[in-house]
Amino acid sequence: MRILFLGDVMGRAGRAAISETLPRLRDEWRLDFVVVNGENASSGMGLSGEHAKLLFEAGADCVTLGDHAFDQKDMLQYIEQDSRIIRPLNFAKGAPGRGHRLFTARGGQKVLVVQALGQVFMKRAFDDPFGAVEGVLKSHPRGGLAQAVIVDMHCEATSEKMAMGHFCNGRASLVVGTHTHVPTGDAQILSEGTAYLSDAGMCGDYNSVIGMEKTEPMRRFITGMPKARFTPATGEATLSGVYVETDDRTGAAKRVVMVRQGGLLQQSAP
Ligand SMILES: [Fe+2]
Ligand SMILES: [Fe+2]
Repeated sequence: MRILFLGDVMGRAGRAAISETLPRLRDEWRLDFVVVNGENASSGMGLSGEHAKLLFEAGADCVTLGDHAFDQKDMLQYIEQDSRIIRPLNFAKGAPGRGHRLFTARGGQKVLVVQALGQVFMKRAFDDPFGAVEGVLKSHPRGGLAQAVIVDMHCEATSEKMAMGHFCNGRASLVVGTHTHVPTGDAQILSEGTAYLSDAGMCGDYNSVIGMEKTEPMRRFITGMPKARFTPATGEATLSGVYVETDDRTGAAKRVVMVRQGGLLQQSAP
């Protein structure tokens, strides 16, 4: 299978790049399954139902969220209507929606998508992500119930992401980090066929501070005095993420390539 995972879509610029570019990538790269992280698609904070529709129309098969899952209040209801949206497994006991789902790709293959939140340097204390992911992986064996297994590890610390990568080695097809909005350069295939990238980066304007118009975050760093709200930067976005080819029989990754399309970042394609 050919799988594309795109990192956090940031505001209007990110949404526009997804709408304009993803349909073409889907065709040209003959993608079987596409996951998009949508946690910042609406004004940089959360995802509205309307914007979720837009991501699916552009070619996403699954949209994952993150710590900003329910910043847009309508997602509290909307997630129950559209099971293609996945929020973190360990978000909160009472959170609506679900943290994993077995999807059917266009070619009929079953694809498990799981998302977990890390615990290091996060604003809230979330439950143990390793135990949560363990349970789901056990009940959806790679090469058994699922032809491919994708784990979105949403957290700050690269150390925690790498630990999750090794934890899932041999059991996931791809472990990819999200949340920091900056892509890392460590795409690799771990020893037991798990593709790994510490962070997918964002789909947003990189002339910014992690996707936000840079004046206000710079003012806060330099003076410590907030003056205005954060607003997403509006320049052309780079679509950023990772492409993986997997073996349908075993679910193992055979090839992994970092993806960066459009905008300011150095371009990269499979
Ligand atoms: Fe994010
Ligand atoms: Fe996040």
